[in-house]
Amino acid sequence: MEIVRVKDYEEMSKTACNYMLRKVKELESPVLGLATGSTPEGLYRHLVDEYKKGNVSFKHVQTFNLDEYTKLDPTDINSYHYFMNKHLFEHIDIPKDQIHLPNGNASDLEDECHNYENKISEAGKIDLQLLGIGINGHIGFNEPGTPFTSRTHIVTLVESTRKANSRFFPSIDDVPTHAITMGIETIMESKEILLLVFGEMKADTLNRLTNGEVSEDFPASILHKHPKVTIIADEAACSKLVIKS
Ligand code: GLP
Repeated sequence: MEIVRVKDYEEMSKTACNYMLRKVKELESPVLGLATGSTPEGLYRHLVDEYKKGNVSFKHVQTFNLDEYTKLDPTDINSYHYFMNKHLFEHIDIPKDQIHLPNGNASDLEDECHNYENKISEAGKIDLQLLGIGINGHIGFNEPGTPFTSRTHIVTLVESTRKANSRFFPSIDDVPTHAITMGIETIMESKEILLLVFGEMKADTLNRLTNGEVSEDFPASILHKHPKVTIIADEAACSKLVIKS
């Protein structure tokens, strides 16, 4: 795992944008794994800017998002479908049929998980998977205790995650109790992983990720076993990072 330290959120977003653009420009048909949350908003803003300046096209790109809440309509302002459209997709030239998110509103959710896995396989491997991280080390919606061998599945969100994400909802009671997420094994099959971490709130998380042991109690720790992970973290997130010699 390589850690790229940057000053602040803005520099993290710009650095991540350049990293992603390199992949988009260099590959003939890039497959990107995308994430939601506060962390990648700045990155998406920069990608949109680059597109508007005519510096990049996304016509040849396919995307797969990590996760989606269940029982929210894609037009619901709290759904990850809505988030992705608002922050990225509606501003760029990616064809709609090349955008993929799990359908949390499917009548058969188990079936939807299988379908999503199949779509990822059909696209080949994800070339670059973008990740954020939860304070408890969750990636996607893979909460502590999720088997490292998991594929796309339905999860029950833990209370701390519902609380953390309630800032986007009118109240915690409105936060869905379940979600569909790519599994940890699915994420680990990506060719490259780019993890963004910012803010003091994630300082203990980043230190645990860097120095803690690989354990299902802390899902992101599996990233130590991946051959190509780049972490871009700002000063605040690095403030508790203990560098072991
Ligand atoms: C959410 C998402 C994750 C995201 C994480 C951190 O629950 N499912 O994909 O990485 O929490 O979110 P944020 O970037 O808002 O801190």
